[in-house]
Amino acid sequence: MKDTSNPYNKMLCVDMDGTLIGDDESMYELMKLIDKNTLLAFCTGRHLPSVIVFINEKGVRKPDACVLLVGTEIYLLEKGEFVLDNNWNQVISEDWNREEIVRLLTDIKELVLQDEEWQTRFKLSYFLTENQAEVLQEITNRMEKAKLKANVIYSGGEFLDFLPVRAGKVGAVRYLGDKFGIDREAMVVCGDSGNDLDMFEAGFKGIIVGNAHAELKSFDGENAYHAIGEYSAGIIEGLRYFDFI
Ligand code: GLC
Ligand code: MG
Repeated sequence: MKDTSNPYNKMLCVDMDGTLIGDDESMYELMKLIDKNTLLAFCTGRHLPSVIVFINEKGVRKPDACVLLVGTEIYLLEKGEFVLDNNWNQVISEDWNREEIVRLLTDIKELVLQDEEWQTRFKLSYFLTENQAEVLQEITNRMEKAKLKANVIYSGGEFLDFLPVRAGKVGAVRYLGDKFGIDREAMVVCGDSGNDLDMFEAGFKGIIVGNAHAELKSFDGENAYHAIGEYSAGIIEGLRYFDFI
């Protein structure tokens, strides 16, 4: 639903670890360059408490929206507080059977469950650091056979996330764009790893920072700007390229 009372005509979606975070000086410069008509969204694998710790430690302003836990939660900043968008959880709850996926994968020894704090109703996360290609293929085969659906995202050479099919960063970013009536052309996404890839594959204008992992660096769509600069310096470079700032 388009919200006509909203002040935004542009949207900037930034991943945190490896993208916004890594070069404080450039990060502070970037935050100053973002104007008040831009909806700033942090799009991250982190949960809300860890985003809040970051904001407080670094003294940066709160973003207007947070896409958290790899697109399984959306928070909107309302009167200075982050409020969970329950409707998004409704949207993604379809076709999701977390317990069945856990059961299907229990005997794969290469899969190591991440800490409890990174497991939620809509996110199942493992570490996978050995035999990646074989294990990913085995997972695909098993899921197909069992007719189980999930958005399976491998990133940073170590993280493996299972999310509802409609979740993921791109789904959440589209949802936010629609909610605030922002033109696709007025949106820019930024990232460094595999959990950002869906936003690039969907054709959004995007910045791949210079320090990105090969899994994202190898994306060669015309919608992507490959920055030379690293972290936030790469974001600034790309935003200038896109005439966004
Ligand atoms: C973050 C999350 C982790 C996830 C990873 C990749 O590091 O903490 O649970 O697997 O992002 O999406
Ligand atoms: Mg990252």
